Amino acid sequence: MSVHTHSTRMTTTRLRQMKTKGEKIAMLTSYDFTLTTLLDEAGIDMILVGDSASNIVCGNAYTLPITVDEMIFLARGVVRAANHCLVVLDMPFGSYQVSEEDAVRNAVRMMKESGADALKLEGGEEILPAIRHMIQAGIPVMGHLGLTPQSVNQLGGYGLRAKEEAEAEKLLRDAKLLDEAGCFAIVLEKIPAALAERVTKAVSCPTIGIGAGNVTDGQVLVLHDMLGLNQGFKPKFLRHFAQLGEAVKGAVGEYIDAVKQSTFPNESESY
Ligand code: KIV
Repeated sequence: MSVHTHSTRMTTTRLRQMKTKGEKIAMLTSYDFTLTTLLDEAGIDMILVGDSASNIVCGNAYTLPITVDEMIFLARGVVRAANHCLVVLDMPFGSYQVSEEDAVRNAVRMMKESGADALKLEGGEEILPAIRHMIQAGIPVMGHLGLTPQSVNQLGGYGLRAKEEAEAEKLLRDAKLLDEAGCFAIVLEKIPAALAERVTKAVSCPTIGIGAGNVTDGQVLVLHDMLGLNQGFKPKFLRHFAQLGEAVKGAVGEYIDAVKQSTFPNESESY
């Protein structure tokens, strides 16, 4: 097992330096205190309190239903456990699309009440005015292009994005706009590796890929997916770094047997 400890807290400035030096950035999602403690101690660079919590934590089919209040509740536990890594909080669907004013009001509230270090929003040119206002308000913003799950109803599914030249060109243009607006990093989700490489070379901020090949400046995965806890989900881009689903079922099975057979608790486990 390798543990990569940080002596200081991660910052957006340090993330840019990592890009310049060619040092890869490791990011995972997390949604609670206990697992975040482990991720932070293992030396993760960044944690995303993703709106994937809507699926992973709440059991919804989509990310759309999760609310600002629910995201703040989850982020608080994560922030309390994150001593070294940078915590990014997803703005949920509906919290930044209505108007710039509404977006900034929600963004300020999410920063104040969660204690997160930064926010992430999905989209390009369409949401640029909101992003600019947030950055002017002093909020570090992470962009998210390619497969943007909050737009699943418009995209018609979770397939590979930007295969065609027109969509690839728009994505490249959007990435440059987000970079110029001052986004500190951009997530590139489920796009061809060659396009991710073009974007990574074209922008000054780090790119963080998920299903975008290994030429991006960093990688992000959903924690429960890479640990094998979310057992039904195995897209091509996902690697299982553990099989915790099997480990949990095995442990729970042993516990059930021990209770049924009255072998738990034993004398040394009793007062
Ligand atoms: O919500 C999430 O987990 C995400 C990642 C897939 C990047 O946005």
